[in-house]
Amino acid sequence: MKEVEVCLTPDLIELYDLRGKVVVIVDVLRATSCITTALAHGINSIKPVATLAECKDLQNQGYVAAAERGGLKVEGFDLGNSPFNYMNEELADADIAMTTTNGTIAVSKSMEARQVIIGSFLNLTSVVNYLKRQSYDVLIHCAGWKGKVNMEDSLFAGAVVQELDGSCEISTDAPRMVQILYSQGKENMYAFLENSSHVNRLKKLGLNKDIEFCLQRDKYNVIPVLKNMHLIKMGLNDMLI
Ligand code: MLT
Repeated sequence: MKEVEVCLTPDLIELYDLRGKVVVIVDVLRATSCITTALAHGINSIKPVATLAECKDLQNQGYVAAAERGGLKVEGFDLGNSPFNYMNEELADADIAMTTTNGTIAVSKSMEARQVIIGSFLNLTSVVNYLKRQSYDVLIHCAGWKGKVNMEDSLFAGAVVQELDGSCEISTDAPRMVQILYSQGKENMYAFLENSSHVNRLKKLGLNKDIEFCLQRDKYNVIPVLKNMHLIKMGLNDMLI
């Protein structure tokens, strides 16, 4: 039986062997929620990069450039990291370069994986159904905050582990821990996360509506997948089944 593991922060990723695994990147607030929203609204691709310099280079090559640091849009770039930024019809078919504080770092540290996909509560069931159908071991890679563990990504990891119960085995403790966390928070995730660090950070920036948006379940039926260093909507040919 395939196995599911959870890496709670990118600073622990070296402890995991990603080869031959499907890695699910999660940054609920807000990078992976933005990426899922963007592809659901017809954006062609998102090229995730770790640094502002790389993103600026791509902007000069004609990409629409999205850059966030500390929750805010970075001066001189076209977009920030609010899911509402990615619903604009003028962006349909656009190719976007994106750098964020944590989410795109987690992607850049997952290159050894057999396949990298993007998870959020917005596409939870689509991701779970795909993970059940494919035959590779699964690693859920939480973006956290600057190397530290965060609640919202751990909660998402717990939701996936819970849904995969019976189709994946567990041999380490992180999946069990996040499953317990999810069992405590699933009824009202907004209330459960009320005092969490990034929720407080975003509230201070007046971004409460982003929090509410990103905690919705199954708003979209898309799975972003990394192909040639670009995140695109997963098609039948991309499925490892
Ligand atoms: C991140 O990558 O850390 C987050 O998405 C930050 C944010 O925009 O809230």
